[in-house]
Amino acid sequence: MDKFRIKGGKVLRGTVAISGAKNSALPVMAAALLTAEKVTLHNIPKVRDLITMSKLLAFMDAKVSVTEMPASDYVIEALKLNHVEAPYELVKTMRASVLTLGPLMARVGMARVSLPGGCAIGARPVDLHLKALEQMGAEIETSHGYIEARVPKGRLKGAHIVFEKITVTGTENILMAAVLAEGETVLENAAREPEVTDLVEMLGKMGAEISGHGTSTLRIRGVDQLHGTEHSVIPDRIEAGTFLVAGAITGGELMITHCEPEHLGAVIAKLGQAGVPIEIVNKTTMRVQGAKRLVGADVTTEEYPGFATDMQAQYMALATQAEGTSVISETIFENRYLHASEMIRMGANISVDGRKGVVRGPAQLSGTTVQASDLRASAGLVLAGLVASGETTIERVYHIDRGYEGIVEKLRGVGADIERVHGAAS
Ligand code: UD1
Repeated sequence: MDKFRIKGGKVLRGTVAISGAKNSALPVMAAALLTAEKVTLHNIPKVRDLITMSKLLAFMDAKVSVTEMPASDYVIEALKLNHVEAPYELVKTMRASVLTLGPLMARVGMARVSLPGGCAIGARPVDLHLKALEQMGAEIETSHGYIEARVPKGRLKGAHIVFEKITVTGTENILMAAVLAEGETVLENAAREPEVTDLVEMLGKMGAEISGHGTSTLRIRGVDQLHGTEHSVIPDRIEAGTFLVAGAITGGELMITHCEPEHLGAVIAKLGQAGVPIEIVNKTTMRVQGAKRLVGADVTTEEYPGFATDMQAQYMALATQAEGTSVISETIFENRYLHASEMIRMGANISVDGRKGVVRGPAQLSGTTVQASDLRASAGLVLAGLVASGETTIERVYHIDRGYEGIVEKLRGVGADIERVHGAAS
């Protein structure tokens, strides 16, 4: 298994270009299953989850053409779907495989999708996805670890769905189910994440009739057929936020390009409160400088437009360097502080009590060997390693490879002393 080795203490300076958003690329690739025509996608980040998604689509007999692998442009043609199944072998490496359920139910009226298990950060059930599909007329059984779903009437029926909790992939799944359903579907308490809006835009280009995008009520009038399209996914706001913290924490200056500052409102505001100077240069560029004095600031994770849970670990790394106390409240996932114990091993003063993490700073971190536990926790540990004295080794970086394109190369490009150490395949 690969590791990262970081020698901390380098000041980062230069320009970093942000890749496409993994969490947009996943649903738009799944949406290609909704039509027999060609769908061309651009700005797909070169990360492992997207390779997994392309394998999943190919398993179903969709034709996935790329000029290279990993690819940033995909051409997907789902002429006929012969295997309407997402097998355990693929789902276990990527929970978002469940995003194929909605499109398969809409297009073929049948699907067999392995139940995603819990993951390190929480139980993460998909009950709300299934309940909504049932409201639309699907019959669903779960047995032998698989969701077995079918539409007895051949076509899903529009329904009025009120999500009990805001769910990002749940909203995306039901959107994709509803675009080909008979009649109107209303989704209330829908997720408003920019990635949901990106999917709505792409579906609109395919001929779907959706209104209310960007709001928590989406109205979808089902159509008989969708057609092919071309779409470029939005920039990855979490990668951009991670580099904002990298610039701030190392006392350097980074120009972050190809991003969408508008999607980072809560992160920019919170970093500003902590004393980090951030300048919005234009619609796609931000400049971050090291803070003269970092001060602790409390943060609560929330659904968009609130502070993203996917930025919590990175913020915790920053908080270890800030003067005073920062209270972090994690409201989205029940067990998302696995990075905290690793940061404590590096010398951070953090106490965790349920969903609250209290960080007292500043602490001089010192390098040691730490374990990555999930995608964003890994990013938090990389940031901690950048400011720690001596050498930090991060194990299990396959987690970070799921979602950060070329993080080692990008960090090296701005002056970090980081390298990937290749290990034996596991
Ligand atoms: C998505 C993102 C992930 C991000 C998360 C929250 C993708 C591929 N992943 O994950 O990076 O951290 O949103 O912003 O886009 N829940 C239920 N029942 C359900 C569905 C969700 O109880 O049927 C709960 C979850 O356990 C969690 C909360 O709702 O506590 C939010 O989860 P959700 O928004 O669904 O997260 P994902 O879509 O899996």
